[in-house]
Amino acid sequence: MASLDALTLPLDDISTADLAATGLEYARVDADGPGFRPFQRAVARGFLGGESTDDEAENARLSLRDRRLTGVFDRSALEPDVPVGTIDSWVAPMTTSPGRRLDLWSISAVTVAPTHRRRGIARAMLGGELRTAAAAGYAVAGLTVTEATIYGRWGFSPATWASDVVIDTRRAGWAGPTAPGRLDFVPRADLAERIAAVHERIRVQRPGSVPGWDGRWRGLAGAAPGDKEAEKVRAVVYRDTAGAERGILVYTLTEAESFTAHELNVRALFADGGEAAAALWRFAIEHDLVAQVKAWLQPPVPPVQWMVADRRAVTATLTDHQWLRILDVEGAFSARRYSAPLDVMLRVSDPLGFAEGDWHMRVDDDGEARVERADDSSAAVVSCAVNALGSLLLGGVRASELAEAGMLDGPADVVAAIDRSFAPAMTPLLDIWY
Ligand SMILES: CC(C)(COP(=O)(O)OP(=O)(O)OC[C@H]1O[C@@H](n2cnc3c(N)ncnc32)[C@H](O)[C@@H]1OP(=O)(O)O)[C@@H](O)C(=O)NCCC(=O)NCCS
Repeated sequence: MASLDALTLPLDDISTADLAATGLEYARVDADGPGFRPFQRAVARGFLGGESTDDEAENARLSLRDRRLTGVFDRSALEPDVPVGTIDSWVAPMTTSPGRRLDLWSISAVTVAPTHRRRGIARAMLGGELRTAAAAGYAVAGLTVTEATIYGRWGFSPATWASDVVIDTRRAGWAGPTAPGRLDFVPRADLAERIAAVHERIRVQRPGSVPGWDGRWRGLAGAAPGDKEAEKVRAVVYRDTAGAERGILVYTLTEAESFTAHELNVRALFADGGEAAAALWRFAIEHDLVAQVKAWLQPPVPPVQWMVADRRAVTATLTDHQWLRILDVEGAFSARRYSAPLDVMLRVSDPLGFAEGDWHMRVDDDGEARVERADDSSAAVVSCAVNALGSLLLGGVRASELAEAGMLDGPADVVAAIDRSFAPAMTPLLDIWY
């Protein structure tokens, strides 16, 4: 497993040269240096946000200090220090199976100034990240996307999905278990730490999960500067009968059609186990003067729909959420446990070259995989583009479904064997944005 600090890696030569050929400069930005504020302005502009206050910028700096910030600069522009392209990256342990992880090259803040769009800046930045990550030995890159049309060309593909959930509380009717522990309100002062602690317990079990960071938790807790809803943030924790804090619900209430029909907006609902989940969802659904509960980033088939009498009271809207890009087939596919033995020859096409070739994948009776480059290319029986590998890795989609869509090709019995082997121990989920 790679363990290099992403911050120490040099800039990619190919991207540096490609950008220089169009008069642009590719450069690292130090979060603690004078380049940070212009970098942050460019990111906010790229995501259509307003200008940040000093406090907001300082808050962002705290989160981005551990990241590799890279900008593309047009030094002939009227604001030459404000990058026309931005990207940041860091390495996070992504859970692949309960208790197993791989170091994910995580990418965020991809923006290109509207004045400089469609000149290949994103291509240079993404290519630069992937080459840097692969050269340093990272097996998988990941990102969350604003649009589904952008990243497939670089070999990314959806690997985890998430639902936005709306619950009509007047229809729902609690039908789930009664949790034996207790709920208590907690003060806002140490809320970020509390959210982090519960999340840390659950993310190591859930394929697709990565750790959050202080800034993410401060944001959910209403402790980030500029949060217009901050004063409305409330939170309850669930403690089991032994007194352990096993779940947390952070929410705001908004008056909707009338005072008796408020909306309860879930900022975070993290539950370590079914008991805590039942207690927290019940609290939300049975809250007096609330007609609707809204929550984001829930599992594709949200467990709460099994806890209510009328399942149609729960509307779940599914979206792809985390996209993965395989850079090293051996490193990626040997980093998880599998559900059944497998012996398959894979042929992978990868226009960027990283995963291109034939691979022999064997899974033993204990669910451990060995993947090797195959010399005898005539033996390959299943073929796909690298994108399909990214979708398969965590078991969030079945190989047979990709085959039906024409994204993977192979004999039906072999595809069925892949289905059995890749079946995940838990539905993969990324429960935060990054
Ligand atoms: C998306 C964005 C980063 C693209 O930057 P860009 O420098 O204009 O992209 P490039 O010129 O490098 O284009 C590379 C390829 O992607 C395609 N592409 C770029 N943006 C696209 C989009 N929004 N939808 C579909 N394709 C897109 C280009 O057509 C080009 O295709 P080609 O390889 O077939 O020629 C930029 O438009 C942007 O900043 N958007 C707002 C912020 C955003 O959505 N960021 C993504 C965060 S997840």
